[in-house]
Amino acid sequence: MSAGIASAWAREDLEALAGRGLRRFLEPLESPQGALVRVGGETLINFSSNDYLGLATSPTLRAAAIAALERQGVGTGASRVVVGDSTAHQRLEARLAAFERSEAVLLFNTGFAANTGTIPALVGSGDAVFSDALNHASLVDGCRLSRARTVVYPHADAEALARALAETPARRKLVVTDTVFSMDGDVAPLREILAACREHGAALMVDEAHATGVLGVRGAGLCEELGIEAEVDLRVGTLSKALGCLGGYVATSRAVADLLLNRARPFVFSTSLPAALCAAAEAAVEEVEKDDTLRAKLWRNIRRFAKGLRELGLPAEQRSAIFPVIIGEPDAAIDAARRCREKGLLVKAIRPPTVPEGTSRLRFCLSAAHTEGHLDLALEVLRQLGVHRGG
Ligand SMILES: Cc1ncc(COP(=O)(O)O)c(C=O)c1O
Repeated sequence: MSAGIASAWAREDLEALAGRGLRRFLEPLESPQGALVRVGGETLINFSSNDYLGLATSPTLRAAAIAALERQGVGTGASRVVVGDSTAHQRLEARLAAFERSEAVLLFNTGFAANTGTIPALVGSGDAVFSDALNHASLVDGCRLSRARTVVYPHADAEALARALAETPARRKLVVTDTVFSMDGDVAPLREILAACREHGAALMVDEAHATGVLGVRGAGLCEELGIEAEVDLRVGTLSKALGCLGGYVATSRAVADLLLNRARPFVFSTSLPAALCAAAEAAVEEVEKDDTLRAKLWRNIRRFAKGLRELGLPAEQRSAIFPVIIGEPDAAIDAARRCREKGLLVKAIRPPTVPEGTSRLRFCLSAAHTEGHLDLALEVLRQLGVHRGG
């Protein structure tokens, strides 16, 4: 029976994953997102969400989504280049362009789609793309899909990047990097990277997924913090993390946005985001820009947690809301997560291929919704368990 062939393949591969401690399972939340969540009948402090500002359940966002849902219904029926475009999409793009201070913004259904759609729209065979060794999977896949030659440079090493740019002949050169690295929480040396791009005539695309809403005086990301928004060719942001919604976007020039609208396959060949989501995201941008109370609270939490980690003898850079506690092998990381959970912490083990072999970890993500008590409890649990020392 041919239907059994794929199942046999699947069983074989699942067994191999399980044997290496790499099999993943789903666990449904029984409550909304938040600092406290209900899972498997237990209430736990959530340290694994990217809802950095706690906006995913904000009454303002809910009200905006409900009003748009009532007006426009649920689905959009088509891609935006067919009949799936609406005033809600256009309003959100205009709002995001003002927030990002860019000439144009193009929306994608996810940050993942923004990255995999954008790179192949800009470069192809005969071109070269230069990618940080720890870039997010969506940038990696975007490079692969582009068919451009991909040069992976050592993590956050602008000098190595400059050498690679000098040594690699290509028609077009594109450099791609996360600004905040999703599994390590450190930041790219963007000024140096920008200087290398300038020297070698390369375009620069950055992924601000974990910086949108978190970094910068207005919350527009690392480029805003460094005052280099206008100098970076493409800035990818996400609606899915600090903005509490779902979606991705590219802040860029009108010409690049127009090209992406024509060529980025996830944009052209996929049904557009629901209008309700666009309305909620517009409200989220409004919240983030008009009032920095949540961001200030998040940064107080970041400083307190970083200080606590350092007191435990752990390195803590304090450049973002992400704090890795490196454990090593996958099974040890799973065991550490289980022991944290017994003490009331929901912190997921992150294993290869998400992180390099030998660096499985607990990844603590902070939120403005965490109280000081939540953070202090997490630090106390880490101290008691000694997980960071292999205990
Ligand atoms: C650096 C980075 N880029 C892009 C994405 C994808 O964004 P989204 O969740 O909106 O698809 C993520 C999310 O995990 C990420 O960490």
